[in-house]
Amino acid sequence: MIDSTNAEKITERVYWVGALDWALRDFHGYATLRGTSYNAFLILAEKVTLVDTVHASFRDEMFSRIASIIDPASIDYIISNHSELDHTGCLPEAIERVRPEKVFSSQKGRSAIEAHFHNGFDITAVEDGQTLSLGDMQVRFMETRMLHWPDSMFTYLEDERLLFSQDGFGMHLAHNERYADAIDSTIIKYETKKYYANILLPFSPTVTRIVDKAGGLDIDILAPDHGPIWRKDIDKVMGWYQTWAAQKPTNKVVIVYDTMWGSTQEMAGAIEEGLRAEGLHVRSMRLREHHRSDVATEILDAGAVLVGSPTLNNNMFPTVADILCYMKGLKRKNLIGAAFGSFGWSGEAPKQITEALTAMNVDVVSPPLNIEYVPDAESRAKCIEFGVAIGRQLKEKLQA
Ligand code: FEO
Repeated sequence: MIDSTNAEKITERVYWVGALDWALRDFHGYATLRGTSYNAFLILAEKVTLVDTVHASFRDEMFSRIASIIDPASIDYIISNHSELDHTGCLPEAIERVRPEKVFSSQKGRSAIEAHFHNGFDITAVEDGQTLSLGDMQVRFMETRMLHWPDSMFTYLEDERLLFSQDGFGMHLAHNERYADAIDSTIIKYETKKYYANILLPFSPTVTRIVDKAGGLDIDILAPDHGPIWRKDIDKVMGWYQTWAAQKPTNKVVIVYDTMWGSTQEMAGAIEEGLRAEGLHVRSMRLREHHRSDVATEILDAGAVLVGSPTLNNNMFPTVADILCYMKGLKRKNLIGAAFGSFGWSGEAPKQITEALTAMNVDVVSPPLNIEYVPDAESRAKCIEFGVAIGRQLKEKLQA
């Protein structure tokens, strides 16, 4: 168990000095239903080194944990692996209070820190593969540009075979346990997958390259900047990343939709029936019950996505526009898809969705299916046929 003010020992000479954000429920549009942690680490080498800091509002918690083992003023070096504000929010205050001998980041990190804080800090830029002596210990830097910002890098503490991986292999999860193997494995896999689907997916080619490279290191401990630390299952989480980065289609179909008077929902149910008749796995998600970030998590390992919307004032429903905008940014590859919806008098929404799916390189395998007002037996049968047809096309694709 962690108390709210003390550091936690990770190895003989590395301590966790981060913060637990139990109350966070939204991380720039990502639903964080289990909160998050901002992990910072202290290396008790001859040159005492702080790796990353925490969100600005948690500065007291971080300094309190540091002070539980050393005087913060005795920190010699600060390493900033990633300049996003959840990890640099209290970097300026740390620099002011600690007055470190040096602060290190990547070249891009140096300019990003300046562009955030405009303080003229003297940051020493490091390069991929460069080593830094901490006196009686040594770290090596690994550039991880676009995992997931231009500034991102990993820091490998050779003496402890410990990789500080900033956002990589992390998850939004506040927990009293510090290690992933001490937490329900279902939660760990879901939250790791959700983080990948919502933050890292667009950078999958980079992920493949970096995981290959990191896999060449001897790693006993993998210490990300969010969520628990990995001291077991390191190969397993790297394997998950390789699988997700490959974006291979599966026999799972996500039906994502919204509805006004229940008709588009009825259509979704009948389409699901057709897909299930073809033996496919179906995850049906109404957007006012499922957050965009949970939909994205399901789409990560799907083979098809079907998007349904009623037409409201000549447009798709606003929640549907939201998920399409979000999906476009995440750039999931190798999906087939199609659109459907109920309409009253104009019925533009399915056509608009089809255009949006096409623009994001989803292979649209069917014209949109439109049903006027409320489905009757005939239109319900059309929905089942629509599901069957798409199911068959997905199976053909998987067999090709
Ligand atoms: Fe956790 Fe990209 O910051």
